[in-house]
This record gives sequence, structure tokens and C-alpha cells, in this order.
Amino acid sequence: MNRTEPLVDPNRRAELFPVTRRWIYLNHAAVGPLPAYVLDAARHYLEAISRDGDHHWQETLQVVEDARTLLAELVGARPEEIAFTRNASEGISVLANGLDWQPGDNVVLPAIEFPANVFPWQNLARRGVDVRYVPLRDGRCEAADIIARMDGRTRVVSVSSVQFFNGFRLDLAPLGAFCRDRGVLFCVDAIQQLGALPLDVGSGSVDFLACGGHKWLMSGEGIGFLYCRAELLDRLHPAAVGWMGVRDWEHMLNYRLEFPPAARRFETGNLSAFGVHNLKAAVGHYLRLGPAAVAARILTLAELTAEAAGQRGWTVLSPDGPARSGIVSFRVPGCDAVDLVARLSAAGVQAAVRNGAVRMSPHFYNTAEEVAEAFIRLDRIVKSTDGR
Ligand SMILES: Cc1ncc(COP(=O)(O)O)c(C=O)c1O
Repeated sequence: MNRTEPLVDPNRRAELFPVTRRWIYLNHAAVGPLPAYVLDAARHYLEAISRDGDHHWQETLQVVEDARTLLAELVGARPEEIAFTRNASEGISVLANGLDWQPGDNVVLPAIEFPANVFPWQNLARRGVDVRYVPLRDGRCEAADIIARMDGRTRVVSVSSVQFFNGFRLDLAPLGAFCRDRGVLFCVDAIQQLGALPLDVGSGSVDFLACGGHKWLMSGEGIGFLYCRAELLDRLHPAAVGWMGVRDWEHMLNYRLEFPPAARRFETGNLSAFGVHNLKAAVGHYLRLGPAAVAARILTLAELTAEAAGQRGWTVLSPDGPARSGIVSFRVPGCDAVDLVARLSAAGVQAAVRNGAVRMSPHFYNTAEEVAEAFIRLDRIVKSTDGR
């Protein structure tokens, strides 16, 4: 593929991605804007419930199951291994609160995890569970470093497959295989990967995965999902239960608390049908476009971003090669990142600040021209900052 060849028909880009009319949007690692095909699904659902109330309930249930099937395809799982959640934090909490911990057990995490993958584990302190942090080396936390922090009491290793701060992408397979060999559960926060770069739970030996829909999947906030490997289901005690998570939920007065052989046991009651409609539209579109083509496009744009920062002599904090993802972070010497990003926003470019660095995260519909233009605007800001 040509390095700058677009994946989206340029004549339809503004129609499909309305955000492009106003912004150069390089902030998908924070929140992905809703594409028109997701907005249409949302509108369809809201209009139906506004017009007809409960009349479409059966259709809604079907949409939930269709979305579950698409999510299973997204991560290489079976639909019974997928449950909807509100967000990644809730998904990770299902695992953290579901295990039968013994005092002295420990969980191993990289030292720069997003707090969604820290607090659910810290919350187990009252059950005597220790959280062990793996220090980073040169912005990376490799499998070998994590393995070195494990011991005979390690029950879970929990990692972001792509780090939120500098985008370091971990090679899951060797770490997953090591954990599987030793009977340690391997949990992945995949929110910075799914929708951008492919992930297969089988080849990564992943036992449990949590994700939210509002970043690279561009489905809006408040809807997410988890994957729980079928063999793990019965080892987790659902910490929250509800009427729709049981085997015979349609028989409302039967009161038998029996779980189905499926991850939907973690779903409690009614889901955000709104969110599920959005997620279904977004994931369906992504799978039709082709995960490999999307990944190639994002990696090209990320590389152009890193090159642009590097050429200016700025400090690029993101790894290249196989550890590259859709996230590129850099520091501009002598400039405050918060100030830069605020002024960049005023100039029509959205990026983020994380850990004192500018973070850019282009998606497949962005263009090479947008990346180049973002840096031209950044140059102007940096120049005026120097002169102040
Ligand atoms: C790695 C990572 N995990 C989780 C989240 C969000 O967690 P939640 O879906 O619980 O809001 C973020 C960003 O907001 C993140 O970067």
C-alpha cells in the first residue's frame, strides 16, 4: 500500500466522519468521534423507542446477540465468552472481584497502567492481595520484565496491550504462554488496541479481556465488553447478579439462581441498548473494512506523526517497529504540553496531554495531509511560544 493512500473515499469522508468538517482530529486514544454510520444506528434506535416504546424489545434482544457475535469475531472468541459492560473498569472488576483470593496472593502490573487497570486490584487489599508494579525501561515494559516480577503467589498478570501514555504495544503471545504454563491468569486491557490494531485472544493466550467502546471503536461512552475464556467462567463468582444474567431469565418468577454457560451471567439486568446499537454499527463497519487494512493505515499515519516530531528535534517517547501502535507521544523542549495542546485546539487540531507529553492518535480516516498540517500549526505555536 502507498504510504499516503487513503482508506476512505475522499469524496465521502466528510459525510462519513462529520468531525473532519471542523477539526483535524488526532485524539482517538481519548475519545473517538461518532462516525455517521454509528450516529445513524443511534438515531434509528432512539426514534424507534420514542415512537413505539417497548414494541421493538425482541429486535433489541436480537441486536444484542448480533453485536455479541461481532465482538467475538473481533477478538477471535466465541459469542458465549463475551459480555457487555459499561466500560473497561467494570470489566476488569468482574475478574478482580470474582476470584477466590487467598491472603498473600499477588497481581503483577506494568508501573504505567491506566488507573482502570490499577484500582480494581488495589481494591483487593482488604483481602490480603498485593499489587506488584513492574518498572518501565526506556518507556517499555517487556514480557521478560513482567515475568521477573512474578513468583509462586502470582495469580494474575494484567496489562494494557497498548499503553495509554506512549502507545507501547506489548507482544502478548510470549507472556500469555508463560502465564498459561504456570496457571497464572492473563488479563488484557485492550481499549487502546481494539478498533485500531487486531488482537486474537487465542494466539495471545488471553484468559480475560476488558474494553470500552468510546475510543478506537468510536461507539460513544458508557458501553464496553469483556471476554472471559470459557474454561474460566465457573472459577469466577459473579460479584453482581441480576435477573437477566441467569439461565432462565424469561421465566421471571422461577427464582432459580443458576448461571448460563456463558459470560452474559455478568450482565445483571437491562443493558444500554443504545450503546449496544452503536457498538454493533461500529464493529460491523470495522470488520467490513478489514482489520489488516485499518491497522496498516493507522501505523502509517502514526509513523508519519513520529517522523514529523523527530525531524523537528523533539523528543519522541513512543517506540517504533513492532511495538508501535496508533499512539505517538512527544515533548517539545522548552514548551509546556498543556499550553501547546490548548493552543493547538484553538487552531483546530485536537490532541491530548498525558504525563507532560503531547499525545497524538490518528485513526484510519485521517490523512497524511492532516498530519502534516497539524505540525505546521504546531510549528507556528511553538515559534510564538519561543518569542514570548
Ligand atoms: C488503557 C486504558 N484503559 C482504560 C481506559 C478507560 O477506562 P474506562 O473504559 O473504564 O473508562 C483508558 C482511557 O480512558 C485507557 O487508556
